[in-house]
Amino acid sequence: VVATPVVVAIDGPSGTGKSSTSKAVAARMGLRYLDTGAQYRAITWWMLNAGIDVDDAEAVAAAAGKPTIVSGTDPLAPTITVDGTDVAAPIRGRQVTGAVSAVSAVPEVRARITELQRSIAAGAAEGIVVEGRDIGTTVLPDADVKIFLTASPEVRAARRSAELAGRAGSSAPTAQAGSDVAATQAALLRRDAADSRRKTSPLAKAADATEVDTSELTLEQVIECVVTLIEERGRRA
Ligand code: DC
Repeated sequence: VVATPVVVAIDGPSGTGKSSTSKAVAARMGLRYLDTGAQYRAITWWMLNAGIDVDDAEAVAAAAGKPTIVSGTDPLAPTITVDGTDVAAPIRGRQVTGAVSAVSAVPEVRARITELQRSIAAGAAEGIVVEGRDIGTTVLPDADVKIFLTASPEVRAARRSAELAGRAGSSAPTAQAGSDVAATQAALLRRDAADSRRKTSPLAKAADATEVDTSELTLEQVIECVVTLIEERGRRA
């Protein structure tokens, strides 16, 4: 058991088991959970719905303050709404996934969402696990524990394919039709490259983050590794 509240930042690219790990760690340790990717997806969903051209950075910037995004932080049942509409399902669709890198690269969008993230973290009296791309570097640079999850491109693509095929639940790579994995891998690498290259708080490992390569680990092993890192920090505190 650790001294609460503890703030945990878990960053990394897609397909590293970030969401599954973050939710499970939060549930096991009695912490709240925030999926910041879901917030960027939600604002992207709203932009698409409002007919805004997501490649027009000025139009996206001008509209960034309009939607009200609310995240429910129970790790066993996280929720996300935009202006009161439950968008948990549509934000995982192809359209949003294809547009989210462009929208999340706009500084006004990042400023808005970052402010929201900081207020949610500050309000979590029991502590919180926040997962994303820039949590340890930009959003919560004073987080108690910072983890950066990685995995080889092949493993990440295989996991994402399995997730898309509705077979989520294991972080171990599954057998996939080669072309399927290849297409998923190409799309995933494009998105990671865009997320890593953008000017405003790109995907990056904080200097004081612990890197965990999940390529050869099961989901359970990754969860145990992160729980151990949090407990060690708790003992030092
Ligand atoms: O984790 P995810 O795939 O749901 O994230 C969707 C997109 O949101 C991702 O391509 C980049 C962006 N994102 C971001 O820019 N910063 C974060 N902290 C989290 C996500």
